[in-house]
Amino acid sequence: MQETMQPINEGSRKEVMRYLEPFMLNEMSEYLKPVEEMWQPADFLPDASRSTFFEEIKDLQESANELPYDLVAVLIGDTLTEEALPTYESWLTMVDDVEKNEQGGWMKWTRAWTAEENRHGDLLNKYLFLSGRVNMREFEISAQYLIKDGFDIGTGSDPYRNFIYTSFQELATNVSHRRVAGLSKQSGDKLLAKMCGVIASDEARHAKAYISFIKHAIKVDPNEVLLAFEDMMRKKIVMPAHLLRESGEPQGEVFAHFSDAAQRLGVYTALDYVDILKELLKDWKVEKLSDLNEAGEKARDYLVKLPDRLIRIADRMKNPLKEYKFKWIYG
Ligand SMILES: [Fe+2]
Ligand SMILES: [Fe+2]
Repeated sequence: MQETMQPINEGSRKEVMRYLEPFMLNEMSEYLKPVEEMWQPADFLPDASRSTFFEEIKDLQESANELPYDLVAVLIGDTLTEEALPTYESWLTMVDDVEKNEQGGWMKWTRAWTAEENRHGDLLNKYLFLSGRVNMREFEISAQYLIKDGFDIGTGSDPYRNFIYTSFQELATNVSHRRVAGLSKQSGDKLLAKMCGVIASDEARHAKAYISFIKHAIKVDPNEVLLAFEDMMRKKIVMPAHLLRESGEPQGEVFAHFSDAAQRLGVYTALDYVDILKELLKDWKVEKLSDLNEAGEKARDYLVKLPDRLIRIADRMKNPLKEYKFKWIYG
């Protein structure tokens, strides 16, 4: 397959993926780290075998006590988002047009990515447990519901929509973990700041990988990638935990409160959404794409104009004021 690929016909996604999968394998070492060189949750958590264990926990709880209520809520929502990893892994394995083989490029990538991501929920879950501020039973009910409910993000099993979504999401999680790190540091919880900081840098690395998959796809199939991108943006990128709920509440109910808290704190806002879109447009050089068919041109023009439109809408949005009492948080 060369860059002279013919315009889309049925089954061409398969050809593109056959061209992409070797890149996924080759580039894996660029975007994922060797297991034994990685940080692990134990690097940051009190070690129960040490004589100082209880003192360390006391310190951890003292700093956790200083965290503002909204920040704890956002941290819990972020942790639950990480804990729904089984949903993301099963969704990734449903992608069409990849080699359905345990040793294929896509499956190898998916397993290695999942293995890295798994550390995020592990670390944050243990922190929340030790912090003493969280009703862990309520937290665990939400985690079980979220995995059971899954998500509805509008990608179907299309590889292009999937990689566009993951590019967006990895950038979004980078932003939110990074901001939680900053706010934790401000309120004196250095340990939590470090934890969220290392998670954020994993997310940034993952974002680069998915962005590069789309870069390769654009080279050989620009029209279809643009149509997929346009479609995802028209539907709006839904957060992976959009069905998040608390015990006794309907699907998605608590997600709105979580996202209000994130907006209030400036952890993840409507303007961040626009910034992420701008970054993707720049990385994929959308504005400069030429030699497109009519539909591809329309999609490009829609996408290029979209950030300004979204900024105007974001400017009109008011910051949510009302605080909500989460079942997850004591006191
Ligand atoms: Fe993560
Ligand atoms: Fe991630």
